[in-house]
Amino acid sequence: MLSRQIAEKLRSYETPFYLYDIDLLRQTLDSVTAVASRYGFKLHYAIKANYDPRILQTINEYGVGIDCASGNEVRCAIESGFSPNGIVYAGVGKKDKEIRYAIEQGIFSINCESLQELEQIDRIAGELGKVQNIALRINPDIDPKTNSCIDTGQADSKFGISYEEVMENVDVINSYKNIHIKGMHLHIGSQIRELHVFEYLCDKVNAIVEHLTALGFEFDFVDVGGGLGINYDVPENEPVPNFASVFSIISQHLKVGGKEVHFEFGRAIVAQCGELITSVLYRKDTATGKKIVIVDASMTELIRPALYGAYHNIENITSEETRKERYCIAGTACESTDIFDQSVSLPVTRRGDLLTIKSAGAYGMSMASRYNQHDLPGAVYSDEIE
Ligand SMILES: Cc1ncc(COP(=O)(O)O)c(C=O)c1O
Repeated sequence: MLSRQIAEKLRSYETPFYLYDIDLLRQTLDSVTAVASRYGFKLHYAIKANYDPRILQTINEYGVGIDCASGNEVRCAIESGFSPNGIVYAGVGKKDKEIRYAIEQGIFSINCESLQELEQIDRIAGELGKVQNIALRINPDIDPKTNSCIDTGQADSKFGISYEEVMENVDVINSYKNIHIKGMHLHIGSQIRELHVFEYLCDKVNAIVEHLTALGFEFDFVDVGGGLGINYDVPENEPVPNFASVFSIISQHLKVGGKEVHFEFGRAIVAQCGELITSVLYRKDTATGKKIVIVDASMTELIRPALYGAYHNIENITSEETRKERYCIAGTACESTDIFDQSVSLPVTRRGDLLTIKSAGAYGMSMASRYNQHDLPGAVYSDEIE
């Protein structure tokens, strides 16, 4: 990890802050774009993972599109220089003004998540005198074998339209004049490490596409979402995720007769290039003998551990001690779940030491809040450090 190599230099920045390794981001983008182009796959970066301006600027250099989950994400993508032509927009609760904005901007596709939404897109497009390209986001009912807090494609999930509902409403769906159904969209969850899940996804997509085609739907593209997981346990072993494997699986198993295949990776592109750097404030032992290290970061900078028990590898990057102890690493927020790790073995850790919370580039800063009126953390980019 970059932070260990430049630990002393990092002392000049006010903690907590996100450290972004721009070289690693570029390596990741080199890899994902090279393998995708080998198969002719199209990429949309899921901007919700991280919309830091430098990150977006770097991603934009690679000519990938953007996947958005709100009108403001669409706005952010456009204002950051991404072409509307490469923007897809999913989301279960799109407001009228968001739909209107997306249509006005002429984005590539609105990925529609309910029949009522379809009706509203048709109405608003009609008011604007336009025909909007959309994709039907279909719930494929697949268990992605990930943390249940971040799975999105099981039958009782709020995401997508059930395949059965589509089948029962083919005539209604085909009756809208101001929308053009250009694609089919699925996204089954995030942090998927068991890659055979993508095989099940392909099997489902193949069956759905075959049936819908038989019913007269003519899609140009199939968007299979994002979800590729990363190595949170030992990030050094896998700084760049294995895009080649997932693309190879999709290429072998997806049989969609020449339709374009799109992906929407977020985490896999940006997670490993970001670290949250935090200083140790206090050390104390509980009456039960637990050694607690209080750091100056909290769930307001990185909520994933508190929100869904996510694991991040933590290292003390400044301690010179060889002796190790087990610590509970706790944040400053006024919440009992504001714990980064209940029990991590670190070299003896003292006030003023710098810790890195690794693999924090995705769903870190983009989920930051100002709870307890905390300041938002800063960002430090590897290529700007003197
Ligand atoms: C529709 C959609 N596409 C793509 C993504 C990105 O997922 P990931 O960061 O796991 O690649 C998400 C994440 O929630 C999503 O909801």
